[in-house]
Amino acid sequence: MVAAPSGHENWSSRGAFILAAVGSAVGLGNLVRFPAEAGTNGGGAFVLFYVFCVVLIGLPVLLSEVLIGRHGQAAAPISFRKIAEESGGSKAWGTVASLGVFSAFLVLSFYCVIGGWVLYYIGLFAQDIVASGATSGAFADQSFEQVDSYFGGMVSNGVATSVLDVGFVGITVFFVARGVSGGIEKVAVYLMPAFFFLLLGITVYGMFGGALSRTVDYLFTFEPDKLSGEVMLAAVGQAFFSLSLGVAGMVTYGAYVGRDVNLASTSGMIAGADTAVALIAGLCIFPIVFVAGLEPNGGLGLMFQTLPHAFSDIPFGTLIGLAFFIMVGFAALTSSVSLMEAPTSWAMERLGLPRVQAALGVSVAASVLGVLCALSTGSLSSFHPLGFIPMFEGMGVLDVLDTFTGKLTMPIGALLTAVFIGWVASRRLLDEENGLSGGLHRFWLFLVRWFCPLVLTLILFGGIFPETTGQMLGFLSGG
Ligand code: PFF
Repeated sequence: MVAAPSGHENWSSRGAFILAAVGSAVGLGNLVRFPAEAGTNGGGAFVLFYVFCVVLIGLPVLLSEVLIGRHGQAAAPISFRKIAEESGGSKAWGTVASLGVFSAFLVLSFYCVIGGWVLYYIGLFAQDIVASGATSGAFADQSFEQVDSYFGGMVSNGVATSVLDVGFVGITVFFVARGVSGGIEKVAVYLMPAFFFLLLGITVYGMFGGALSRTVDYLFTFEPDKLSGEVMLAAVGQAFFSLSLGVAGMVTYGAYVGRDVNLASTSGMIAGADTAVALIAGLCIFPIVFVAGLEPNGGLGLMFQTLPHAFSDIPFGTLIGLAFFIMVGFAALTSSVSLMEAPTSWAMERLGLPRVQAALGVSVAASVLGVLCALSTGSLSSFHPLGFIPMFEGMGVLDVLDTFTGKLTMPIGALLTAVFIGWVASRRLLDEENGLSGGLHRFWLFLVRWFCPLVLTLILFGGIFPETTGQMLGFLSGG
């Protein structure tokens, strides 16, 4: 067993770790991307396939990441290196985790820009309550076009979105700078229960509107023919993003877990809660959209355009809208905190900086990149820095970062983590740490040795050559 370095921080309890890890996992991915994709890409067939990806690929890698952190008790690159050394592997494995830390930093930079948009909508709804009270529909005296123009007006105003981005980074660093049990844990312990309360409250409200059966049809009607190769790839990628894998975030959180915690059952709970939230998010959002007589659009437009329209058409729309965006803000914050913690713990251990300085340094760097993202949706919208690469053609900085991390660095990080655990880490060490026994232990080993690397290579290939891989998968699945 590796002794914890002096001054090493820990979660105050297993429950605090679970809440923090669920907080990291539950975020914009669950609330925006999953419902939109499930609705348009095969309903029940997509949901079933997604759950399959979570159980057979996400969960084994999640367990691997937490295990590496718990054993190493240090920032991700150092934990990887320790395990490699103990297992007779190459020290270069530390570099793999550095790539993860770097992707966490990149995701943090654009995630806070979207967090800033959420702050703007919280302000819009709060202002509306003051102006027209809590019982009416939101934006009652405004036309459809006016409500629609909020989103376009916001993203094209690079200066305002930059300020909001820096504001969201500021809120994040406020908690990260206070340390594991003093800040990161506090934000999860207070905000996650509040998040669940709001999610369930809004879902129950929506159920009384009369569009529940249409929602269930939309989300769960089993349409396997819509499950093309490309959709399958998107589902696996989504499972990874949703469980916060491949960016060293869960390795970092694992480093603060005590030795008495059973990692297998705890990882199962984290993955289960994350998947449940994704499913409930669909049941929360679509009844409101359908009752208002709207058709959902995909991606971010669902949250920032369709829903504000829907809130303007329902009783108590201002109040429900405000509660909704506060709930999204809570989910985004508990995720951004974990994204910031990975590079912060790296800077503390690698550069020897005190926590406050490390967190502030990461914040300044993420703000600079975030401002570039914000400007590239506004005044610099014709600025396509990597447009000469086909994968990034026509993209602004925000989309480049999203694509680069989602299609390249996150799958690479997760692939190498699976290979590291499956082929490099010593069996004795895994036996001691993973909390599994008998057949389950062997099954997990099989997944991380063979199944996960194979599927992750496919995702990677699919990200770079989407058409060929999509056709290949479609052909294999008979689609
Ligand atoms: N899991 C988060 C979401 O679904 O929005 C995103 C995320 C958070 C990814 C933290 C990676 C991470 F380390």
